[in-house]
Amino acid sequence: MSVVTIVGAGHVGVVYAAGFAELGHKVSVIDIDRARIASLRRGRTWFHEPGLPELLARGVRRQRIAFTTSYKVGLARAQFVLICVPTPISTGGSLDDSYLRQAFAQIRANAGHPAPIIVNKSTVPVGTGDAVSSVFAGDGVRVASNPEFLAEGRAVDDFFHPTRIVIGAHDHEVAEAVATLYATLKAPIVITDPVTAELSKLASNAFLATKISFANAISQIGDAIGADGEQLTHVLGLDPRIGAGHLKAGLGFGGSCLPKDLAAVEHLARSFAAAAELFSAVAAVNRQQPARVADHILARFGSLIDRRIALLGAAFKAGTDDIRESPGLALARQLVELHARVAIYDPVAGARVRSEKREGVVVTRSALAAARGADAVVIATEWPEFAALDLPAVRRAMRGNLIVDGRGVLEAGRARSLGFDVVTLVGSRHTNTPAAR
Ligand code: UDX
Repeated sequence: MSVVTIVGAGHVGVVYAAGFAELGHKVSVIDIDRARIASLRRGRTWFHEPGLPELLARGVRRQRIAFTTSYKVGLARAQFVLICVPTPISTGGSLDDSYLRQAFAQIRANAGHPAPIIVNKSTVPVGTGDAVSSVFAGDGVRVASNPEFLAEGRAVDDFFHPTRIVIGAHDHEVAEAVATLYATLKAPIVITDPVTAELSKLASNAFLATKISFANAISQIGDAIGADGEQLTHVLGLDPRIGAGHLKAGLGFGGSCLPKDLAAVEHLARSFAAAAELFSAVAAVNRQQPARVADHILARFGSLIDRRIALLGAAFKAGTDDIRESPGLALARQLVELHARVAIYDPVAGARVRSEKREGVVVTRSALAAARGADAVVIATEWPEFAALDLPAVRRAMRGNLIVDGRGVLEAGRARSLGFDVVTLVGSRHTNTPAAR
């Protein structure tokens, strides 16, 4: 059992807090946001993550997790301090490390004795670990980089079944000490230097983004020449050198990690005069996907003035209420610019969209309500309830019959037999995939 303090009660911090408590560690969570800390004390998260509220409540009940807004209190007995603060992207593509710097300054001022090992989990500008080591040099503080690879919507499962644990530290003993935190989990542990650990996180996400853009680009070709796009990517995925994951064509990738980390890798490549074209092309393909759908809908109707479009799904993917960099919302914005009226329904993220008060957009309480009077319906997130849509009822509710399956969840043949004009982005045979811009 170790005493672990987590700085930053965001998505990653809370999953690690609940997970480490379950593994038997004693955890303190520090965040400057009083409302967050108050709700966590009641065992409530302020974001949607399946399985997390239960895990958190168990940790709280067993008195293995405490929450505080005070660095002094939270750091008093810490052996390890995990930094889980956000690192947004600044203009120009570099990662903004201002929250990180504030956290380090607070730790420096408030750390107990003996000094804890500082473990950085935030996605950081490459080189941060070394910079931090020099900030703390002489204080007896030891530092490691230990990137997280949690995917939203299945973060709890990812915590308990990691594909790898990467620890970057110049001092091997420090790395071994960090590894003890995960001793009960079965996963390969890679001990390396901080820069390699930091770049490995960015590279993993840039590669996942590349796979998705590749799938989208190849599906465009597949559709143009009449190949079955779904089978095409299935065949690719059967080769273990390629792997089946993240090969699903559709509206493209969003969220807080893939777009940001891809941009950070591109920025690094440019800074070091390395090959940046690959990464900019991946981003460009991704930007095109919502634009292709908007163009296609515009071409269908000639003008979108007074046309109604129902957008099913605002979350950047299913299983989360996160709408950051949501491809569906990018499409909504483009449709509104073309003067369409957009009705959005999302089973979990609706409240978030409503709170943003987007111009030209209404948020409905059901898929059918969004579809009422619509000229076209677009499925933008692969929520299971959209695969199980009552298609005859949707057809009756609509004014038109165009349905764009942006996530490959519908049985296109059945939808067509019900009178829908079906467009997909997966490049399936005979499905009128919109042409590239
Ligand atoms: C990602 C990484 O998977 C995770 O390891 C890392 O720690 C954080 O970034 P996340 O952002 O939660 O996780 O989402 P992910 O499941 O990777 O999906 C990202 C986006 O790609 C979503 O918008 C999703 O809809 C899209 N996607 C995913 C596709 O378009 N096709 C696919 O085949 C897979």
